[in-house]
Amino acid sequence: MGHGAFLSFEGIDGSGKSTQARRLADALRGKGHRVTLTREPGGSPGAEEIRRLVLEGDPDRWSPETELLLFTAARRDHLEKTIRPAVQRGEVVITDRFADSTRMYQGLTRGNLAAEVDQLHALMIGVEPDLTFLIDIPPEAGLARATARAGKEMRFEDMGLEVQRRARDGFLALATRAPGRFRVIDGNRDEAEVAAEVLALTLDWLTGR
Ligand code: ADP
Ligand code: TYD
Repeated sequence: MGHGAFLSFEGIDGSGKSTQARRLADALRGKGHRVTLTREPGGSPGAEEIRRLVLEGDPDRWSPETELLLFTAARRDHLEKTIRPAVQRGEVVITDRFADSTRMYQGLTRGNLAAEVDQLHALMIGVEPDLTFLIDIPPEAGLARATARAGKEMRFEDMGLEVQRRARDGFLALATRAPGRFRVIDGNRDEAEVAAEVLALTLDWLTGR
């Protein structure tokens, strides 16, 4: 995509992705890198509008198919307007979730649309992050953290523990299938400890490429 870098954080709700993405952005900026910190669904004005459509309201508001189209539309806008331009400027782009979240949630846990997810990805997105941090924690811990933080974006958290459990297993399986890109991080530790490991792995990758 250009001479910058494209990093993603993945994991179940409450695993600490946003916290770690922010800490990594701050640490890299402190070392002189130019960083764009972004998130999905969202990350561009159009995609943030779609975010409200998918995350708020009744859990049955959308069919799995409609939801897949909305997430993919949001990602396409995010890629066009935010990710690609920043990577082309030579920045490190850090996104809180990307296509692995769709593979997981629309492909396996909330929908059963793995084939459609892969086809839409190939057709409309077509890129993967250079490096993906999977922040892994037990689903009970994730749900407890996410619920403690509760706001109005609870449409998915409302779906419960069993979904979180399958999502955790599914993310670990995705990591096994793409070991070159994934780094699995034990997120059930002190925030600073997790951040130190993520930073060390990122610096390793940036200098080794
Ligand atoms: P995610 O983006 O994966 O949903 P967040 O980063 O928003 O997760 O974290 C969810 C909640 O858990 C927040 O209230 C956050 O402060 C807290 N949290 C994040 N990392 C840790 C950690 N390592 N230990 C304990 N609590 C954490
Ligand atoms: P996010 O804001 O990352 O929530 P959290 O901080 O609680 O992890 O994502 C909101 C929800 O959107 C989350 O439950 C996962 C879901 N999601 C999908 O189902 N498919 C996708 O492609 C993406 C990006 C997110």
